[in-house]
Amino acid sequence: MKQVPTQAPSEFDNMTSTKIQNKVGFIGAGNMAKAIGNGMLVSESVKAENIIISAPSDRNLAFWKEKGVRTTHDNAEVITFADIVFIAVKPQYFEGMIDGLKKASTLTVTKPMCFVSIMVGRTVKSVTEVLKTVPGILGEFEVIKVMPNTPSMVGMGCSVMVSDKNGAFTSVVRQIMELCGVCEDIPESLMNACGALSGSGPAYLYMVIEALADGGVKLGIPRDLSYRLAAQTMSGAGKMVMESGKHPGVLKDEVCSPGGSTITGVHELEKSGLRAGFMNALAAAANRSEQLG
Ligand SMILES: NC(=O)c1ccc[n+]([C@@H]2O[C@H](COP(=O)([O-])OP(=O)(O)OC[C@H]3O[C@@H](n4cnc5c(N)ncnc54)[C@H](OP(=O)(O)O)[C@@H]3O)[C@@H](O)[C@H]2O)c1
Repeated sequence: MKQVPTQAPSEFDNMTSTKIQNKVGFIGAGNMAKAIGNGMLVSESVKAENIIISAPSDRNLAFWKEKGVRTTHDNAEVITFADIVFIAVKPQYFEGMIDGLKKASTLTVTKPMCFVSIMVGRTVKSVTEVLKTVPGILGEFEVIKVMPNTPSMVGMGCSVMVSDKNGAFTSVVRQIMELCGVCEDIPESLMNACGALSGSGPAYLYMVIEALADGGVKLGIPRDLSYRLAAQTMSGAGKMVMESGKHPGVLKDEVCSPGGSTITGVHELEKSGLRAGFMNALAAAANRSEQLG
């Protein structure tokens, strides 16, 4: 599919820099690590020399090397170097990663640390229990769970975080997450629900953008223009909800004049079961996360 051209400035352009002194590590160098790490680098909040990242292959490490970040294939080196370590591997590789750490003769850390798990479906308790089985991690550590979403890659992420409010690392981890968007505190009982909304939500909204654009194309709008109009309209509507303080229903009413074209379209959407469709989708996604967890 042709890429949708955009003229919108990145949210990273507006970012203010807050200096973070911690050394930050990533185990796993893929999309999510890139999104979070890029926020730190672009804002210059964490110096490249204070970041380390590991992955088994070189596939994703070139991106980091270019930015002056220390890279390694050795996960133990990340834990030795950093005091905040993001666990950014797919959940199914977590146990394998832990087995590797258990065998790492070079790993002996006694400093206080924080592990930030971004793995879908893993609870704070289960991650903590598994990390406790690594003999080389000898100091106190806390575990924070963060569920980011993919718009973090453009500084527009919506993350949720489960942490001990009095934890020594809580505020700095929130600060790191806010470098790539917003970050809300939630109780862990809401994790699957929030995963279904803000974690999976971008996929649903891309479908809405695609559907709106198809509607435009059917009416004769060129494809590229149609995507741009749909995406900017989505982004603008979100901003209106955030910044006007108005209920989304009120904002919808303001676009619908009596007997007009918009209310005619709204009626068609209601007939198609749009609201129930989204509610069902979220319930199904949360249910699936529960099963996978
Ligand atoms: N994508 C999302 O929308 C989203 C949203 C919320 C949370 N998450 C969570 O974020 C995590 C990362 O997802 P992603 O999309 O960034 O995945 P990804 O792009 O596939 O990246 C996974 C990374 O883990 C590395 N890895 C695999 N086994 C490893 C091991 N034993 N030790 C160290 N690194 C290892 C991979 O290495 P190679 O580079 O060598 O392949 C790769 O760099 C997942 O747990 C996912 O559940 C994702």
